[in-house]
Order: sequence, then C-alpha cells, then structure tokens
Amino acid sequence: MTGSGKLAQRVARRSAAEIEILQQAGEIVAETLQVLQQHMQPGITTKELDNLAEENIRRRGAVPSCKGYMGYPATICVEIDDVVVHGIPDHTQLKEGQIVGIDLVACYQGYHGDSTITVAIGEVDNERQRLLTVTREALAAGIEQARPTTKLREVCRAVQQRVEAAGFSVVRSLVGHGIGQQMHEPPQVPNFVAEGEFPDYELVLQPGMVLAIEPMVNAGEPAVRVDSDGWRVRTADGRPSAHFEHTVVITEDQPLILTERRDSLPLNYAPE
Ligand code: MF3
Ligand code: CO
Repeated sequence: MTGSGKLAQRVARRSAAEIEILQQAGEIVAETLQVLQQHMQPGITTKELDNLAEENIRRRGAVPSCKGYMGYPATICVEIDDVVVHGIPDHTQLKEGQIVGIDLVACYQGYHGDSTITVAIGEVDNERQRLLTVTREALAAGIEQARPTTKLREVCRAVQQRVEAAGFSVVRSLVGHGIGQQMHEPPQVPNFVAEGEFPDYELVLQPGMVLAIEPMVNAGEPAVRVDSDGWRVRTADGRPSAHFEHTVVITEDQPLILTERRDSLPLNYAPE
C-alpha cells in the first residue's frame, strides 16, 4: 500500500443515500444564511442573528453543530471586518460600511452542512468590496478543481493563486476540512500550498468525497491572533478579512455544491 493509498482510506466516500441527506443538511444551511442575509442591516445585533439562525435550523428539524462544540456557546460564528473566524454573537450592532461574515454549520439526520457568507452592510469602501469579490472568486476557483483524479493540492493552489494575484493574502493557521458525520473530518483543506506541511495534498479526489472549502482572505498580512475570549480570531494588522465557504461533493462530473440555494445565481456567474 502506498502512502497516498492509506491517505485515501482515511477519507470517507459517501453513498448516494448519504449524499441525499447531506444535500438536505446543505439546503437547510443555505436557506438559513439567506434568511440571515435579509436581516443583516445596520442596528441588528449579532445575538439577534444567532437567534434567527437557531430558530430556522430547528424549524427544519436540524440542530446547530457548533453550539456546545468544544464549549462554543452559539449557533453562528460572526466575522466583522478584522475578525477572521469564531466571533461569538453578543449585543454588538451591525454598522454601515462593515463586511460581516456568518459561518454556520447544521446537522440533519446525523450529517453536517457547513457554509459561510460575507455580506457588505450598506456601502463599503473599495478595498472591502474587492475583498468580497476576490474571496468569492477564490472559492469558485477551488471548487472548479474538486474533481475525480485531481489531487487535493490543485484545489489549494487554485484558491491561493486567485487571492495572491489580487494582492491579498490567505490565512495559514486555519484550513478547510472534510465533512460528513463529523463537522471536521480528514482531509485538511489549506488555502495554500506549502510542500511538506500537509500530507493531505497528495490525496487523489474520488467521487463521494465531501469537502468544506473555505478561503479566509486578508487584505493585509496573513498573520492572525486569538482574542482574550479564547475564540475570536482577528487579523494581526487590524485590516479586514473575508470568508466564503461551501460544502462540496466530488462527483463523476461537475462538483456538486450542497450549500448553494438552488434558486440563487451560481457561484461563478461572473463572466471570465
Ligand atoms: N465552520 C467552522 C469550522 O469549520 C465552524 C466552527 S464552529 C466552532 O471550523 F464551534 F468551532 F466555533
Ligand atoms: Co468549515
């Protein structure tokens, strides 16, 4: 058995029946994010958004995956401006000019869906607007590589190339992941290629594998710091960061995005 063969054995390949459940989990996450997006206006508190998310997830017969995970106290993670990931909802009100990410994971019949959107609150400056566009495009570029016989490194490389071509940087200390019966499963899915650091780069993608691909993109330097609450991660230089994430199934042909609303525009609608 080769090293990459052992690697492939650690990564689950989901059956058609499992993918059907994952699709429902993904749909619940996508719908919930759409509901939140409609409420993301100046003045709403992040705790109000958290309540809306939990209500919608439970109404659909699912449960919030993050709540209670390693002691995390909420349904959503909120990412305002320089917050990269894992902001705990509180009494903070959204303000015009911010970019605000919502990272949401829900579990339906034992299977998890994970997605993140970052939204402009009213008018935002050019740098923030460009950060949103580039991060969304980097996710689309990574998803485009998520096909059978391709190595995982091509997903990582595609994300990194799009981000760095725009003059932004990818966060190094946080990565995407496999997902299924656990929120975090092998493989690790970095948003960059650094030979030697991640054995999972060698993974040959196969139909039925499910990945949460999630570029975290900083306007400035890649370095991040954890706040004193032990959760909230911010950029070290204080400049803004954006985050988009989808749960994606490798299929025989097109990558299947589980967390995209079927009635919304496709992720890569922008002409080349
Ligand atoms: N989508 C986040 C991740 O992939 C979820 C974090 S939930 C938390 O890590 F409980 F860790 F906050
Ligand atoms: Co994730």
